[in-house]
Amino acid sequence: MVPRVYVPWGNVGYVFLYKGGIIMSLRKELEDLKLKVSQQIEQAKTLKELDDIRVDTLGKKGPITKVLRGMKDLSADERPIVGASANEIRDALITQIKEKKHELEMQALNDALAQESIDVTLPSRRVKRGVRHILSQTQEEIEDIFLSMGYKIVEGFEVESDHYNFERMNLPKGHPARDMQDTFYISEEILLRTHTSPVQARVMEEHDFSKGGLRMISPGCVFRRDTDDATHSHQFHQIEGLVIDKGITMGDLKGTLEFVIKKIFGDERQIRLRPSFFPFTEPSVEIDVSCFKCEGKGCNVCKYTGWIEILGAGMVHPKVLKMSQIDPEVYAGFAFGLGQERIAMLRFGINDIRGFYTNDMRFSEQFARL
Ligand code: PHE
Repeated sequence: MVPRVYVPWGNVGYVFLYKGGIIMSLRKELEDLKLKVSQQIEQAKTLKELDDIRVDTLGKKGPITKVLRGMKDLSADERPIVGASANEIRDALITQIKEKKHELEMQALNDALAQESIDVTLPSRRVKRGVRHILSQTQEEIEDIFLSMGYKIVEGFEVESDHYNFERMNLPKGHPARDMQDTFYISEEILLRTHTSPVQARVMEEHDFSKGGLRMISPGCVFRRDTDDATHSHQFHQIEGLVIDKGITMGDLKGTLEFVIKKIFGDERQIRLRPSFFPFTEPSVEIDVSCFKCEGKGCNVCKYTGWIEILGAGMVHPKVLKMSQIDPEVYAGFAFGLGQERIAMLRFGINDIRGFYTNDMRFSEQFARL
């Protein structure tokens, strides 16, 4: 009888083989299997696909396991040959799968990195540079002029009391001049200041005159009950000035303000003083500057007068000094108040005050390089 064995084989099931030819056939089958699986591994595109191949080939129900299991039916001398061959192929495939797995993992990592990477050759988005607001620039420029003359800069309160805003400025309750400075009231006594003048009273009462006279400016925001239009704003900016010492005269007022106005508007400018009225100064003046556009010939800026009104000023009223415990027989002083918007509008030909507050970059950017 010709001995024969059944060898479990792949999907075909048991292959019928004759002894002698068995080993050769088995070897060939295993070689074919190795080639086929090896190609599959090579072509695997994902880790999942690779793992499916591993399970199908090397798993419990895979062809190699079946060969190894079927060895019990082989003879003792055939067994090591088939076994060695099957193990060798299994090890080779395991190694190849490991390598492929590493390759696919690296590829996945590279893909992820490629997606996250930054293309440094792209031109960057331009960062928009901010611009100092023209009112800030104006304020600083005027501050510098006064600092150079030894003045100190004092900050006041935007929320003030009726007492400092009006009473101490010689504007008692019911005074008709209060009508021009109606404002926003927080209570009957607390309001948004209508001018920077209350800082005068606050500084005067604190100043130690035994150490010398007082020279200060106070820039800041003020408020009035006004309806906004091209020339009015319910909120605007002033700079207050105050000098108090022994022997201060109207000549000091004129000389100081002429110097400052020439610094702002140019050395060729002239000033003139016109009588005016403020309850807290006596005498009071309005100071005009000769028109810088038409040189005094008459134009739309100076309303064909040759002069432009710039600020209000005067000698500090003796009553105001007394209310701050300063003896008007010993001390005298001058004060002034100028509007920052007005100065900027005149210098740069701005014809609508709302331009300062609406934050339209086309407006603001024009003053980038002053
Ligand atoms: N406070 C006055 C105003 O707002 C200006 C001023 C200040 C006038 C100081 C004289 C002296 O109109």
